[in-house]
Amino acid sequence: MTEVRRTAAASAPLWERDEEVAALAEAVDTLCADRSSSGSLLVLRGEAGLGKTALLAETRRIAEQRGCTVWSARGGETLRSVPFNVVRQLLQPALVSMLPEEAREYLGEWYDIAGPALGIAEPGDGHVDPRSVCDGLVAAVSRLARRDWPLVLLIDDAHWADQETLHWLSAFAERLTDLSVLVVVARRPGEVSGVAARHLEAVAAAADR
Ligand SMILES: Nc1ncnc2c1ncn2[C@@H]1O[C@H](COP(=O)(O)OP(=O)(O)OP(=O)(O)O)[C@@H](O)[C@H]1O
Ligand SMILES: [Mg+2]
Repeated sequence: MTEVRRTAAASAPLWERDEEVAALAEAVDTLCADRSSSGSLLVLRGEAGLGKTALLAETRRIAEQRGCTVWSARGGETLRSVPFNVVRQLLQPALVSMLPEEAREYLGEWYDIAGPALGIAEPGDGHVDPRSVCDGLVAAVSRLARRDWPLVLLIDDAHWADQETLHWLSAFAERLTDLSVLVVVARRPGEVSGVAARHLEAVAAAADR
């Protein structure tokens, strides 16, 4: 049911998911082994009820056991039109723990552009290019991933994520060659169309590399 492929066996409370759990555990181990290693992106793709959320919970358990920081978020069918909803959820633990001046430091020159998307800065008057916001979020999450290494990001129900988050995710996926962070995305096949579908395809392509 998934696009993850590895062979080692692992014990897990899930039936017939040893291969997926082993791949997820291996990805966590790789992340924890070396902070200068490349990151990775795994996509769990399957129909409703096949255990995607359960696998993400297992990933969290394994990652926390290994001492990782784990942040998670999920798409919501009724929240698809709320820009940056999912990435804001994802970064919530970092954002609430930071003083305003720290947040400004982590966003650096991107603060005025990406801060409003994250709900930590007032929007300015002028038009903001969505691509710049996306670039700012990529830069901000990259800094946080270095600060909080080993960091695992879990995104459930990505087929319902807002398209701005999916744009960020597809751009962030491109950074993983030189950023040690593990991203696990769960999604149903279908349920998504248009721009969001294209971003999800780019995410899947990055996962295959
Ligand atoms: N392989 C499995 N072994 C044991 N229990 C499982 C397995 N797969 C799913 N379950 C159980 O089935 C229920 C549904 O699984 P889960 O919520 O993880 O599915 P899902 O793929 O996330 O579905 P959806 O697309 O609706 O979110 C849960 O109670 C889960 O623990
Ligand atoms: Mg689920």
